[in-house]
Amino acid sequence: MRRIRYEANGGPEVLFLEDAPEPEPAPGELLIRTEAIGVTLPVVRKVREVAAPIPLGGEVAGIVVGMGDGVEGFALGDRVTGLCFSHGYADVAILYEAMASHIPDDASAVDAVALVRSGLIARGVLEAGVAGPGDSVLVTAAASAVGSLAVQYARARGAARVVAAVSSSQKADFVRDLGADEVVLYSDESWGDPVDVVLDGVGGDLLAPAVRALAPAGRLVAFSSGGGVIDAYELLVRGASAIGFQMAAIARTKPKLYASWRDELWAEYRAGTLRPRVHACVPLAEAARAHEIIESRSNLGKVVLVP
Ligand SMILES: NC(=O)c1ccc[n+]([C@@H]2O[C@H](COP(=O)([O-])OP(=O)(O)OC[C@H]3O[C@@H](n4cnc5c(N)ncnc54)[C@H](OP(=O)(O)O)[C@@H]3O)[C@@H](O)[C@H]2O)c1
Repeated sequence: MRRIRYEANGGPEVLFLEDAPEPEPAPGELLIRTEAIGVTLPVVRKVREVAAPIPLGGEVAGIVVGMGDGVEGFALGDRVTGLCFSHGYADVAILYEAMASHIPDDASAVDAVALVRSGLIARGVLEAGVAGPGDSVLVTAAASAVGSLAVQYARARGAARVVAAVSSSQKADFVRDLGADEVVLYSDESWGDPVDVVLDGVGGDLLAPAVRALAPAGRLVAFSSGGGVIDAYELLVRGASAIGFQMAAIARTKPKLYASWRDELWAEYRAGTLRPRVHACVPLAEAARAHEIIESRSNLGKVVLVP
């Protein structure tokens, strides 16, 4: 099999293709021949920040070509998608059965990796922020894989006003096309009328204007791997709250909820209310280029690797 090896700290130039033996699926695991592999900001960050070589995991989609003992819900030849915790940047990968799901016949592998993990996060942060019909919702990193689905999902769940916040005016048409009523740039002095819910996928210095964008009793959902500090006084004066969200915790502790959100995502996909947007499909061998697209913050939707 071929996989991308990440050698050491220092940036995308250290990603290169290598041959490796095929992994053996352990009990409860699926071996899949990958057709699409999602590239995500947390993995791009790891390559920048983690000094030791690490396997590049993440979301994958493909065909089941092997199974460990005890697998019951899948058969050889099934089309599946899910999270891979070992080498996901590879033409063969291992998935835990519990974290895998079937891809409907009418969906491509590329759409599956663009939709499922990012859509689950979008669904989860809306739930965490108790964003209901009639609420106003502001989404930062609105053109990212997660953000682009969060804008659509907020719209589909009856938000009265959806504001998309992005780093560059070049993303304005894209986010309006997703259903945003208003577009603000991070650098704008004002982000417009206050909102009930902010979904923040950027973190760091952006947390301050994100909190200031909240209406009284507003909710900020912080879900970026970028971290950052929230000023409790700014919450106090608005009677606002800040909520952290991590998808992995939901998958681990609430598997039924996780599965029900996944089913709901596919239902929305079939209904046409959620359309995963794909910025680029990049050959696996050019993983470094895929990382550069994310690092340059130029993506409009999902970046996908294809073996
Ligand atoms: N909590 C969870 O469970 C969970 C799981 C996965 C991902 N996430 C978070 O969700 C957010 C979106 O992830 P994604 O995979 O959807 O992103 P993505 O598709 O890879 O998109 C990256 C976009 O994020 C924005 N961004 C913000 N800070 C950035 C930075 N320091 N470097 C590069 N881009 C940055 C950029 O848009 P702008 O330039 O317009 O800001 C960029 O175009 C990330 O913050 C990620 O950490 C959370």
